[in-house]
Amino acid sequence: MSSVTLDHVHKRFGKAKGVEDVHIHIESGEFFTFLGPSGCGKTTTLRMIAGFYYPTEGRISFGSQDVTMLPPNKRNTGMVFQNYALFPHMTVFENIAFGLQVRKMAKADIKERVERIMKLVRLDGYGERRIDQLSGGQQQRVALARALVIEPQILLLDEPLSNLDAKLREETRYEIKRLQMELGITTIYVTHDQAEAMSMSDRIMVMNSGVVQQIGTPHEIYHRPVNRFVASFIGETNLWEATVTGIEGQNVYVQVTPDISLCGSLQQASPQVRLAVGEKVALSIRPEAVRESAGADGENVVRGTVALAEFTGACVNYVTSVGPHQLRSMFINEGSAVKQPGEAISLHIPKNSIYFAG
Ligand SMILES: Nc1ncnc2c1ncn2[C@@H]1O[C@H](COP(=O)(O)OP(=O)(O)OP(=O)(O)O)[C@@H](O)[C@H]1O
Ligand SMILES: [Mg+2]
Repeated sequence: MSSVTLDHVHKRFGKAKGVEDVHIHIESGEFFTFLGPSGCGKTTTLRMIAGFYYPTEGRISFGSQDVTMLPPNKRNTGMVFQNYALFPHMTVFENIAFGLQVRKMAKADIKERVERIMKLVRLDGYGERRIDQLSGGQQQRVALARALVIEPQILLLDEPLSNLDAKLREETRYEIKRLQMELGITTIYVTHDQAEAMSMSDRIMVMNSGVVQQIGTPHEIYHRPVNRFVASFIGETNLWEATVTGIEGQNVYVQVTPDISLCGSLQQASPQVRLAVGEKVALSIRPEAVRESAGADGENVVRGTVALAEFTGACVNYVTSVGPHQLRSMFINEGSAVKQPGEAISLHIPKNSIYFAG
């Protein structure tokens, strides 16, 4: 196992920028995820760690070893590619054994190692099957086994679940996490699926257009996003523009529309935000933080009309029209009647759930 450090790494493709100034330290044994929309630079960053691209600028190290210009076969990383890249004409066994044969390992040792790893990914008994005779989920596990069999110091997974259906994706998600915990292997995982990132990772790096936006635990990036992009990309949120009208002690008063004034707390602000009277700010309010209010008046109570009601079984989701704005809210289903579109509703936005996202 090894830590991974990217020291001010840049990658440009001719004039086009790939990624800019990525500066991270990934701990040994950590499950670290690159998250962001398509084209934001996740694969490019992963490929530099694997050695398939060399940085235009900056340095990459594994532990204390500088690997910046080391070819991929000298790095001891196992990689699962975005499209698996399996050898379709070969069997499961041959696919998994390939990396060991290249390393000229003795036949008996290869057999022992491949069989052990097939058991680990629950593919025992499938050794003689050809790749084109496997389901998508099984192919995904062959790709994983092929990456693991070389006993890499670092496991690199590029959207390994993107071709699976929802149920299989969830199952395989647990399987990868189980393997990672069992083997204690430093794992870098690439996805554009925020739920996947949140549920699997120790820490997440959120990227947009080649630029790192935030690095933090799932809890940090969900509750303390540094900017609007992170706030809206991670989970669902209500983003409202407002103007600061007053600051008294810890209280921050904002005006959203002439009819909607709210009070938030100074504690709940991104470090990138400037809170001063007259400043424009973005408020991020998570749907699950909104409460139904018994009364129609009071601090942070807004009155509106249900525009959309959605019953999902576990929850009831409302979209409420509040003046020109819409407020999404989410309630655990406790058996009470679901309000219908057109009905009046009063909602309370707790002070500490208003986040100044900047
Ligand atoms: N070999 C290349 N030559 C030129 N431009 C490239 C090359 N590889 C990537 N890029 C560009 O770099 C940017 C980042 O691409 P990258 O493949 O890293 O995105 P990604 O985050 O992995 O996206 P996706 O989620 O779609 O896989 C894109 O604008 C892409 O067009
Ligand atoms: Mg990619």
